[in-house]
Amino acid sequence: MLHSMVCDDMPFFLISGNSVNLKGFSGILTEIRFLKEVSVKHLFRALTAGLAVLLCSGMPAVSVAATDTLVVYFSASGRTETAASVIAGELKADTFAINPAVPYSVKDLDYRDPESRSSREHQDPSLRPEYSGEVAGWDRYGTVYIGYPIWWGEAPNIVYTFVEKHDFTGKTVITFSTSGSSGHGASGDHLAEKAGSGNWKPGRRFSSNVNTSEIRKWLKDSR
Ligand SMILES: Cc1cc2nc3c(=O)[nH]c(=O)nc-3n(C[C@H](O)[C@H](O)[C@H](O)COP(=O)(O)O)c2cc1C
Repeated sequence: MLHSMVCDDMPFFLISGNSVNLKGFSGILTEIRFLKEVSVKHLFRALTAGLAVLLCSGMPAVSVAATDTLVVYFSASGRTETAASVIAGELKADTFAINPAVPYSVKDLDYRDPESRSSREHQDPSLRPEYSGEVAGWDRYGTVYIGYPIWWGEAPNIVYTFVEKHDFTGKTVITFSTSGSSGHGASGDHLAEKAGSGNWKPGRRFSSNVNTSEIRKWLKDSR
């Protein structure tokens, strides 16, 4: 018994071989017990590590394919953003929010006030409000969705800022909008004219309260 225990733990027993001779029988047993514990621990660790190596080497490498679809959107009060996130979720696309460098306040958005910022921007189509940030890796996207709220039947000026800054050559572009009641109209065509490049498809307007299933249906039908 003692022999087999000693043999089981031989590598550890030998290392501490000198001290065994100096101890009594109970000391030897204690040491053997200790050594057994240590060896079991080592064995367990070695087995765990080995198993991990085996599992990992047999597993296919997990690769996250980069999407080639980007959903760009401007949203002043969150409606278009909701639609954009549904589209991006369905298509597993990346998103880019056109965030105004100077955010629009509630007063800025008062379309009844001819002096409000949004009204002034609408009255002067040459105005190009700045936005912050840039799209990372623009060149790798083959399909770009562009979403915005309808302002006076058109895309807000800041969306023009975005399209004029980007080269859409070789890209499919699909516009979408949300509005209280107006249709998408020629808003997408007007953006396409200013962009000057890209294969622009007919766009789609959704109600401000659009639901997920309506967007899903549109995506399915337009594929
Ligand atoms: C300045 C301004 C102009 C708007 N013009 C129109 C319009 O011409 N027709 C319409 O149906 N809704 C109009 N709306 C309502 C928005 O299109 C609608 O609330 C939209 O869903 C808001 O989207 P957002 O929350 O992404 O900004 C206008 C809203 C604002 C603030």
